[in-house]
Amino acid sequence: MISYKSLGLVNSREMFSDAVVGGYAIPAFNFNNMEQMQAIIGACVETKSPVILQVSSGARKYANQTLLRFMAQGAVAYAKELGNEVPIVLHLDHGDSFELCKSCIEYGFSSVMIDGSHLPYEENVALTKRVVEFAHQFDVTVEGELGVLAGVEDEVSAAHHTYTEPDQVEDFVKKTGVDSLDISIGTSHGAFKFKPGQKPVIRLDILAEIEQRIPGFPIVLHGASSVPQEIVSEINQFGGKLKDSIGIPEDQLRKAAKSAVCKINIDSDGRLAMTAAIRKVFAEKPEEFDPRKYLGPARDKLKELYKHKIVNVLGSDNKI
Ligand code: G3H
Ligand code: 13P
Ligand code: ZN
Repeated sequence: MISYKSLGLVNSREMFSDAVVGGYAIPAFNFNNMEQMQAIIGACVETKSPVILQVSSGARKYANQTLLRFMAQGAVAYAKELGNEVPIVLHLDHGDSFELCKSCIEYGFSSVMIDGSHLPYEENVALTKRVVEFAHQFDVTVEGELGVLAGVEDEVSAAHHTYTEPDQVEDFVKKTGVDSLDISIGTSHGAFKFKPGQKPVIRLDILAEIEQRIPGFPIVLHGASSVPQEIVSEINQFGGKLKDSIGIPEDQLRKAAKSAVCKINIDSDGRLAMTAAIRKVFAEKPEEFDPRKYLGPARDKLKELYKHKIVNVLGSDNKI
């Protein structure tokens, strides 16, 4: 058993209570490799933002669980070396079983998500409660989910979203003991959320109802990428073939971040940014073959994107 505390990581409890009171949201950025981790930490150090380093089970398979844990430990030292000791949470994204959550906790994660949203309500409650009881023995925080997001989640797919029922949240939070709750109010996973011409709407009215039932309780939004149109154009300009799509408008996320929404998940926008930068190098300098010459610009573009999200969307800058 490796305690996250010995790695210099923190759980999300204090981060979330500060964010709810302060009217901002903590960035939860997914990482699978060194360049993504460097971009995340670089952006957070420069903007003085706390951060959640998020690992999906797909990331765990891709990069190896032991390496990812050492990278998170390295992230703590890296932030210090860059000049700001930003608080860092290592979080399991979309945990789909008790066993996976347990394994991550034993490997040094400070926070886990148990995603039972696709299960019947009582089964979701029972599974989430089981994870909470195990996690809390080690002061690890737990995120649960109520309501189903559209799009493809990591091994959890849902053709259509089902909005979270405000009537259920109080009961769910009380019965499970979760530390935060992911809700479904119109966001969705992936880079293909809405067709151009559609009007993406985050149901801030449902969010307000939920807040009334569980005042001050930390709320999480998944599927919050905005699919920046200039980045999609750049990818296609340099040989990509992405179909037209739009994401969640950043002004709506900014409004949500000012409420009890205290964690916002962004992955797809980062994937797009890296792809655009790499395609540009390949198109403009076809003679290049040193990975640093294309992964470096990808890392730089990712860092700029994250700084923009932190300052202009989440409002988590200067919060350490
Ligand atoms: O919501 C899922 C995240 O974007 C992680 O994606 O399962 O492909 O790593 P992944
Ligand atoms: P996006 O696909 O909108 O970036 O959402 C990521 C996410 O919710 C990770 O859990
Ligand atoms: Zn998600």
